[in-house]
Amino acid sequence: MDLKLQIDLERLPHHVAIIMDGNGRWAKKHGKPRIFGHRNGVKTVREITETAAELGISYLTLYAFSTENWSRPKREVSAIMQLLVDTLYKEINTLNKNDIRLKAIGELHSLPASTHKALKEGIANTAANQRMTLVLALNYSGRWDIVQASQKLAQQVSEGLLPLEALDEHAIQGALSTADMPEPELLIRTSGEHRLSNFLLWECAYTEFHFSPVFWPDFGKEHFYQALIDFQNRERRFGKISEQIIH
Ligand code: FPP
Repeated sequence: MDLKLQIDLERLPHHVAIIMDGNGRWAKKHGKPRIFGHRNGVKTVREITETAAELGISYLTLYAFSTENWSRPKREVSAIMQLLVDTLYKEINTLNKNDIRLKAIGELHSLPASTHKALKEGIANTAANQRMTLVLALNYSGRWDIVQASQKLAQQVSEGLLPLEALDEHAIQGALSTADMPEPELLIRTSGEHRLSNFLLWECAYTEFHFSPVFWPDFGKEHFYQALIDFQNRERRFGKISEQIIH
């Protein structure tokens, strides 16, 4: 049966986060340099973004470059940064046509100037779009976000703007770079790795994880549908027992 028809559109996650993994191994499998894998990974980004928007998912967050990724060979890092710049300029019209708003989380000021510029332009040019928000996590790590949120809040406490008793979960959530987004109900990681790798640490407290063995460049619509069906077949209890959940 058509996988898409098995998805209950009334119970879609509002926010899906993806760790796009396996580009390098995919390229190796094809006897090509790693950047060939990243280029093909961009095709998947396109397909999954369009699929998520068509279904009616409100937020799609992609882990495009982690703080740890700087330790890759310099050539690969520059190639990824260039690919990002090219893709951002090339895809801006498609984002607008599909009514998709671009957002970025991470330490964006430390990105190469050309990447930062392309990103800022992409964000500004799509700011009015409403169907879906595509969030790129760039130079992002979950611990970095918790640290920067803590610093912001500590500053407010030290200036007397925030009483210490008001420094609670809600305050921390509001100081994260994801403050204006719902927490992801579903996180997908491709390529058979079963780790969170410093992604959305705070936000994933109750998130369902779906691990796919498929390398990111081969991850298509059908795999995405499968992840959503898998998610919908689970019971999310948030610490309660089964009988307490209203179905
Ligand atoms: C993971 O595969 C991939 C990355 C760290 C980079 C992903 C970047 C892109 C797909 C380009 C992003 C573009 C846009 C527009 C978001 P890996 O290199 O870790 O693969 P491996 O584990 O097999 O080595």
